[in-house]
Amino acid sequence: MQHYQWYPGHMTKAMRQMHKDMRLIDLLIELVDARIPSSSRNPGIDDLGKHKARLIILNKADLADEQYNRLWADEFRVQGYHVLEANAKSAQIGKAVLAKIRESCREKIERDRKKGIIGRPIRAMVVGIPNVGKSTFVNALAGRASTKTGDKPGVTKGKQWISLKGNVELLDTPGVLWPKFADQTVGLRLAMIGSINENIIDITELSHKIIEFMAQSYPGTLEAYYQMGTFADTSEALAMICRERHCLLKGGEPDIVRAARMLTLDFRAGKLGRVTLDRVIARR
Ligand code: G4P
Repeated sequence: MQHYQWYPGHMTKAMRQMHKDMRLIDLLIELVDARIPSSSRNPGIDDLGKHKARLIILNKADLADEQYNRLWADEFRVQGYHVLEANAKSAQIGKAVLAKIRESCREKIERDRKKGIIGRPIRAMVVGIPNVGKSTFVNALAGRASTKTGDKPGVTKGKQWISLKGNVELLDTPGVLWPKFADQTVGLRLAMIGSINENIIDITELSHKIIEFMAQSYPGTLEAYYQMGTFADTSEALAMICRERHCLLKGGEPDIVRAARMLTLDFRAGKLGRVTLDRVIARR
């Protein structure tokens, strides 16, 4: 198994900036990929948001196993986060998110009210590792009706806020965190869903891992989708997919790499069904 590692130097600087930005906001909205809710988190996030209201968006919930979406939502709630399952690509996302933002900041709203402060906006920032859907999410919330507000006193120069309904303001650029994986399983799962750079991954090796995972966790799915018989091991499965999908080189030889790429893309796009790779660790 090749070892995946990724420590871009500029991320330390980005994290420092995010720590500074924290004083501007009330609520930290963290997007995770619902297929890997644990592996798609940066452990530094809890330190970053330690004095803030916290909301975890289980994004791409449409691609993840419904049963596990519920289990993960429960797990994060037990840990003290507010949680929302979401599909940032759906048209109806805005209303649910705004309601959840208000719920997450209920204590702040109440504190303000007691101090006689009424109508102070809730300010939030979206963060997450690459590819979790941050831009899609922000765009979905911003919609057409939103207005960008310029610099304001007390706000770092250059910061742009998007005014949402319900007196909520969102920092217009989401904070990019980096995935962290001392544990190779985490690296592998990020690769499987397509959240680490393609060129550091051997696609054939990855497709074997996908077949192994599907056969173990969702038995029968590959056979049904590719309309093929049972297989003894991952190499046989890949060869069968290759045949079924007519992936051939010029001389008529099987094009295993093409089959591997196709399988990987089918898996990531949810064509093989909704899947969750990170499983909730039973605590009871
Ligand atoms: P980022 O800013 O965090 O890096 O992520 P971005 O919004 O660019 O989203 C990454 C990919 O994930 C995009 O797909 C986007 O459409 C998709 N996506 C975001 N949220 C969801 C979701 O909740 N469900 C599903 N199914 N997909 C989601 P893409 O293929 O790169 O672009 P596109 O072809 O969709 O435009």
